[in-house]
Amino acid sequence: MNGKRPAITIFGGTGDLTFRKLLPALYNRILSGSAPDGQDIIIIGRRAYTDAEYREKAREWVKKFARLPYREETFEAFAQSIRYYRMDFTNLEAYPALDTFLDEQGIETCVFYFAVAPRFFATIAEGLFQIGHAQGSQVILEKPFGESLDDARALNARLEAAFGAENIYRIDHYLGKEMVRNVQTIRFTNPIFADAWDAKHIACIQISALEDVGVETRGGYYDHSGALRDMVQNHLFQILSILAMERPAAFTPEAMHEEQLRVLRALRPLTEENIADQVVLGQYDGYREETNVAPDSKTETYAALKVFVDNDRWRDMPFYIRTGKKLGRREMEVAVVFKSPSPDIAPTVLLVKFQPTEGVYLQFNIKRPGDFEDIMPVKMDFCQSCSIANRINTPEAYERLLSACFHGERSWFSQWDQIETSWKYVDRLEELWGDRTPAAYAPDTAGPREADALLAQDGHHWFREPEVQ
Ligand code: BG6
Repeated sequence: MNGKRPAITIFGGTGDLTFRKLLPALYNRILSGSAPDGQDIIIIGRRAYTDAEYREKAREWVKKFARLPYREETFEAFAQSIRYYRMDFTNLEAYPALDTFLDEQGIETCVFYFAVAPRFFATIAEGLFQIGHAQGSQVILEKPFGESLDDARALNARLEAAFGAENIYRIDHYLGKEMVRNVQTIRFTNPIFADAWDAKHIACIQISALEDVGVETRGGYYDHSGALRDMVQNHLFQILSILAMERPAAFTPEAMHEEQLRVLRALRPLTEENIADQVVLGQYDGYREETNVAPDSKTETYAALKVFVDNDRWRDMPFYIRTGKKLGRREMEVAVVFKSPSPDIAPTVLLVKFQPTEGVYLQFNIKRPGDFEDIMPVKMDFCQSCSIANRINTPEAYERLLSACFHGERSWFSQWDQIETSWKYVDRLEELWGDRTPAAYAPDTAGPREADALLAQDGHHWFREPEVQ
């Protein structure tokens, strides 16, 4: 017995997300002093592990994936808080026994984390609905939330009925990333950006989330999801809404959500006429041979979109969004390309780098030094993550979002109406796309050539920070 303590109960406790992200995040919270009173961690999985066996697994993952160093003493204290509970969470009859188990552990309040595929959310909610420990508890849901608009709506109605809207935390881990948080500060506290943050001064904004890895062990999930549902509908639309939103009246969760939602609602609808000019989907060669992927799959592993936010600030200025797997590099960044006074002068570019490097890069023009009159672009480059102190003091996305949920802080979680609006856009896109085959691209390249044409037709190109100045 641990006395009456709060707990986090993780469904999907033997899955990739728990190993790579959740356990390391919970360990980091202890080491960094963010969880002084500790917390029980109940792991639910189908496999047969004893507590001791699971804790040994957890040790490997923490050693491998935790941001902070492995410390024997801290890990031992952390390990003592972990209990493994074997259960088939698709069996509704198994839930009363879970309730009894939580009672036996002396657990009073719980956060339930659904680290499972979205098709299991409703079943788990139904199971939990029967048990006392779920009353008034918080639930954290992984993305994607649902598999389509209709599915997400039905799911949301069931979950809100079971737990109450105020107890549901829909996680989008991009909202926990350090530089996503920084966008608002960079934008709103520097007049040189704040006063020029509109279509009058900016030529285009590019949001890129490129990955070097393929689908790895997640073929079964990914083949039903694709880049649009896996990345665009959630992570990238959230970032777009933060970049494009009006300054909220106050930086409260409600005011921020409202402004983000306005952006998503102002997205120009896709039509039969504009889809060809605004959407490129691609698939890397060899994807169809990946494990658990259909041999004739048309799932996109790459998506590039041109979107417009039809409001006074952004009218007719393109936002380009791209994401994909097997693109030869892992890089997430936002490039704000300002309008140039003449075609032969390079644009001023603000590049916010999210990962792997965190920082801000500014490209601007000077007169070539010396007895020359020509103009040349130069850079100022601030690397935030190059400092060890910054790396140590910056919590990872999951650490930050778990802490926020434990403190009831909702600002950086996706709201239902945002999700619903994003789904509408993506559903419409898929409907218009129909049965077309995505453009092929070779692994470890920059993706389909058509994605370059998407920008070239407007006189733009994907901005890439020059390697040597
Ligand atoms: C997840 C997607 O949400 O984000 C994955 O499901 C993707 O397919 C991952 O690889 C990328 O996250 P990050 O933090 O590594 O950019």
